[in-house]
Amino acid sequence: MKVSLKEVNKSFQKGKGETLEVLDDIDFNISEGEFVSLIGPSGCGKSTILKLVAGLDAPTSGEVLMNGRTVTGPGTDRVVVFQEGGLFPWMTVIENVTYGLLRKKMSKEEAHEKAMEGLRMVHLANFTGSYPHELSGGMKQRVAIARALVMDPDVLLMDEPFAALDEQTRLVLHKELQRIWQDTGKTILFITHNIREALTLSDRVLLMSTRPGAVKREFTVQAARPRDPADSNVVDLERRVMEELEEEMEKVLKEEFGDDYHLEKSRVRDSDHSDMGSHI
Ligand SMILES: Nc1ncnc2c1ncn2[C@@H]1O[C@H](COP(=O)(O)OP(=O)(O)OP(=O)(O)O)[C@@H](O)[C@H]1O
Ligand SMILES: [Mg+2]
Repeated sequence: MKVSLKEVNKSFQKGKGETLEVLDDIDFNISEGEFVSLIGPSGCGKSTILKLVAGLDAPTSGEVLMNGRTVTGPGTDRVVVFQEGGLFPWMTVIENVTYGLLRKKMSKEEAHEKAMEGLRMVHLANFTGSYPHELSGGMKQRVAIARALVMDPDVLLMDEPFAALDEQTRLVLHKELQRIWQDTGKTILFITHNIREALTLSDRVLLMSTRPGAVKREFTVQAARPRDPADSNVVDLERRVMEELEEEMEKVLKEEFGDDYHLEKSRVRDSDHSDMGSHI
């Protein structure tokens, strides 16, 4: 399923007559089966874009289209995975994963079978009876991914799904997500603050500028799959993306700390895993 945003603007009312312009003429397409990431400073409107595509909110002007049809609300063709998987704590793993299927009026047997298939895909078939509090953060996110996959959406919308996880778990899930994406051919829109994560997973990375958010630059990742984060293509691109981002980061920090704030470029470039930290 092809996703298109056409001249999408979004603003929010901010109290008395004040308007907060959040998105400024967002215009891009995601081809069927493509993996696209959005990166950019905190508050630039990434989650807002995801919500518009999910149909959870509507643009102020412009259009979001799925295969050429205007999105007017949520639909079974799109499923969102958030940072905190949002599992029901009172339900077991299998109950969490079958929940959406049973609501779709699928029979218990079929729902169970589908859920098992989804759990096998994320290597959690042995944890069907566990409750979320008995799982690690990475396992919970894998359940959330299984729960999204069993609904068989055309488009998977992922808003920082691995942000709360440690680096090792994150690397494992990158491998799993790449494999699942290759096996299922889903179209994926992925949000992250981690440049290397974006470059490891995506066909294209869209870099957004600070508020009002616009797409500032687009990077196509050529590296072979499954990606190795140490691939020279990935590492080279990482440096380029980081350079582009510095400008945007400086704007955000100035907004927060005043005009006399100057970013120490070398410090940002040298930072370990190109995570943009809490400000960005
Ligand atoms: N429902 C809302 N009402 C008012 N303002 C909103 C609403 N949703 C988002 N905003 C504002 O829109 C801007 C963009 O928010 P958004 O959550 O899209 O940013 P983001 O790029 O996802 O940031 P982060 O990287 O921190 O998650 C922010 O200034 C936010 O305060
Ligand atoms: Mg966000």
